[in-house]
Amino acid sequence: MNKQAVMKFVFAFSILALGAPSFAQNAFGHINFSQQIEAALPGSLHDTMKAMSRALKSIDAEDASKNKDNAEAADQFVALVLHAKAFTPDSIADMPASKRSDAKSRYDQMLDQTAALGRQLADAFRHGDNKKAADLMDQLDAAKKHGHGEFK
Ligand code: HEM
Repeated sequence: MNKQAVMKFVFAFSILALGAPSFAQNAFGHINFSQQIEAALPGSLHDTMKAMSRALKSIDAEDASKNKDNAEAADQFVALVLHAKAFTPDSIADMPASKRSDAKSRYDQMLDQTAALGRQLADAFRHGDNKKAADLMDQLDAAKKHGHGEFK
């Protein structure tokens, strides 16, 4: 290869190398945070609950300027709560076989109620109703105490 051909090669390679990250950005940039979470849901109940907790802690219900992020965190929380139904807590697995099915239904029902609160929370942020959002955060805290009292 003569010098000019080498330079052409180096130039073409640089363009490709510089272009790759922006291609990746364009190809994957439209995936939002909650979709990333859905693509990588935790593999255990413990980790799912931890992630639920992190999602709620990332919410600042007092600060209406954060409502877009708050609503997305609430969506993410809902996806995680529904995912928690894919697991059977040890407390239920340890019950006599005759009680397990009713207990799992009750556990699923409590998680559905928690997810419903999470959806209302996302709506409240999207409607700029931070007073309602603060009230729903309290209701979620109560739902957590309730669920943990019965199943943790
Ligand atoms: C706002 C809602 C909730 C949050 C933020 C939350 C958060 C958590 C966290 C952080 C843990 C791990 C605790 C630790 O190991 O120290 C946990 C465990 C657990 N939670 Fe929740 N929780 C919520 C609601 C519920 C509900 C509604 C239920 C049942 C219907 C439930 C059932 C459980 C169970 C069974 C465990 C033990 C999991 C294991 O380690 O195997 N949680 N939760």
